[in-house]
This record gives sequence, C-alpha cells and structure tokens, in this order.
Amino acid sequence: MAQCAVRFDISSRQYVPLMTRSGVGTGRKVMPPPSLRPGDVLTPKKIGTYRGYYNAQAANYQELLATELEQEVFTHFAPATIADIAYNAYAGHESGISTRLIGSEEDEQNHMAFIKINPTYKEAMEMVQQLGLKGNVAINTAATHELLCEQMDRAADYFAQRPELMADLAHLCAYQAFAFLDRTIGRAGFKEMLGTRFSHHGVQGEAFIKEIIKQGGTIADLGMGTSALFYMYYLQKSPVVYMTDVSQFNVSLSQRFAELIGRSETYRAIIDDLTAPCSRSALPAHGISHAFLRGVMHHIDDASFPNVCDYLFHILRPRGTFRVIDGFKTEGNIQGLLDLLRQRGFSATIDPATVKTENEEHRIMFEIEGQKQI
Ligand SMILES: C[S@@+](CC[C@H](N)C(=O)[O-])C[C@H]1O[C@@H](n2cnc3c(N)ncnc32)[C@H](O)[C@@H]1O
Repeated sequence: MAQCAVRFDISSRQYVPLMTRSGVGTGRKVMPPPSLRPGDVLTPKKIGTYRGYYNAQAANYQELLATELEQEVFTHFAPATIADIAYNAYAGHESGISTRLIGSEEDEQNHMAFIKINPTYKEAMEMVQQLGLKGNVAINTAATHELLCEQMDRAADYFAQRPELMADLAHLCAYQAFAFLDRTIGRAGFKEMLGTRFSHHGVQGEAFIKEIIKQGGTIADLGMGTSALFYMYYLQKSPVVYMTDVSQFNVSLSQRFAELIGRSETYRAIIDDLTAPCSRSALPAHGISHAFLRGVMHHIDDASFPNVCDYLFHILRPRGTFRVIDGFKTEGNIQGLLDLLRQRGFSATIDPATVKTENEEHRIMFEIEGQKQI
C-alpha cells in the first residue's frame, strides 16, 4: 500500500498527492465548504453548491480508496457511497436507517461500476464508439451485488483502521445528509419517528414538543446514534435538545449537521457515557424535562443498569419524565430494569401492549415510561 495517498491527474498524466479536507497525505487543504448563515433558505442553487462540495470531497476519498485498496472501481461509484462506507466504518449498525436511505447496495451506478472496469466492456464500448452506435448494458445485479458488498466492506475496514479520517468523514456525512435531504431524510417517515421518540402518557410528536416548549423545558436524546438528523431538520420549533452518545463519530456528525441547518444553539451534541459516574456527565444536573433512550439499553451490560438509573436521576428535573424503547433477550431483564428504576425513585410503568417479540434478533421489544418522583 502507498505511504502517501495519490491520485491520477488526467491533464498531466501523473500521480499527484491526494488532497482531503483534513490534508491527510499532503498537509494541504482543498476547497473550503460553501459559506452559510444560520437560517439560510435552501434554494435549489444553494443545494446545488452543497452537492458540488460534497461530491468533490467524496471524489477525493474515492481516489484514496482506489489507490490504497488498488481497485479502480471506487472511482466509478456514486459519491454518496463514501458516506455509506463511513457510516459502516465508524457508526456500525447504529446507522442502519441512514445507510438504507442512501441505498448504495441497490444503486445502479455502483453495479455498473464493476462492468465499467471489465476489459471486455471497455473494448466493446470502444467498438461502439468507433461505429458511432449507442450501446446499452444489462446489469446482472445478483453477480455485482456480491462484488459491491465485498468492496464496501473492505473500504469500511480501511476507514476503521484510519481513525484520523473519522472527523473529516463525520463532517462529510453531515454534508451528504444536508445536500441530499430530499433523497435521504425526506424519505424517512419522520412523523412516525417523532411519535416514538417524543412521547409521554399518550401525548406524542409535535403536540408533546409544544408542551415542553410551553413549560420552558429541555429534552435529552441519550445515545442518539445517527438518527437525530431526521428530527433536527424537520422540527421547525423545538426546545433545547441535548443529544448524547459515546461515539465521537455520531457526535461530530450531529454537531456539524446542526451547524449546517443553523440550529446549533437548539441541538447540542455531546459526548457522554450513560454508565459513567453521573457526576461526570456533561449535561446540566437536574436540568432535563424529558429524556428518551431508544435502542441504547441493549448495548449496556446488566451490571451497569444501576449507573444508568443514577444518571437519569441526576439529569432529570423533579417530576421530569423519561421513556425507554428497547428490546431485551428475556422478560426477566425487562422486569429487572423496571425494579431498579423504581428503587431509584422513579414511577415506572410498562405498557403490556408494547411488549412484543422482534423476529430478526429474537429480542422482546418493550417501552417503559417513567417520572422522577421528587
Ligand atoms: C442502536 S443505537 C440507537 C441509536 C438511536 N437512539 C436510534 O434510535 O436510532 C445505540 C446507540 O447507543 C450508543 N451507546 C452505547 N452505549 C452507550 C453509553 N454507555 N452511553 C451513551 N450512549 C451509548 C451507541 O453509540 C449507539 O449510537
């Protein structure tokens, strides 16, 4: 593998050092991101500028991968594939919604990429050109799917081994989400998402948020993963939301996205560990009106559940509420969490209608609602 990343410059027909935003491999930086002001209206022209910026940056990473992994095919992929690979490298399965929406595995351009690097295809296309014909190629997606997944996995492994690229790629993913809002976030079924995240005692979604704003309250999205982007953009009015995670990638991504939409005062992404001693938490002590944890508890060892209860107690205001949406292997685990929450001074209830077995991972899904009693 090359020590310093390079790209092939077509005009000089030479390899030149590759430039990424962080200057990896060169010490130089490429084009600055487009300027923006908080609350800027996203006109088609402005969106075009952001797309251009994202695509140019992604192209550098495509060339980096092509060079380092010695696979020309990366330069033929759709630019959004770089964001997809970065999510897989640094955010793992947490980013399932984002990567499904980007849809690199189904992207025709990506399947076509393998055909394009095939020498037989190149020869055929030259012949088609010489004869002045128009050629169409049928893609055997079953065959190219395997190749595509293999190369995307290799690329994700490569990024995972290069932590110095992480911050740059987190920012790039924020630009990708921002520049392609209509194609990605626009398809995410945001109303339903709002309902599952922002809800207490049957008051859901925007009605619930209105209630918190009226009270002058704040919300905490604990272990927000990569999915906070979906509500950040859509909520026109929102109370302050603290979004926490242990993953630096998720925090950098959400922070940058909040900056891009001009809402970083409202949406505050913070590194925080739910299992660490609560006195170390970066959230305001007794400052949160409502906290929600969706899909986080199953990542946490049973032995650390008491720490999470302490953490919740530490951050919530008196009479503050919370909601846990998750899936455990056994009903005993669910009861264990309920007992601990009650011992810690919360009223906590589980709606039997929410308890159901999830097929894929055989986890029993449940939703717990609770309130701090003092
Ligand atoms: C399955 S994802 C859920 C993400 C998001 N809440 C959602 O609903 O899509 C779990 C998230 O919890 C985070 N996490 C795991 N352990 C944590 C901890 N001890 N403190 C804070 N976040 C944690 C992971 O980094 C990951 O982003």
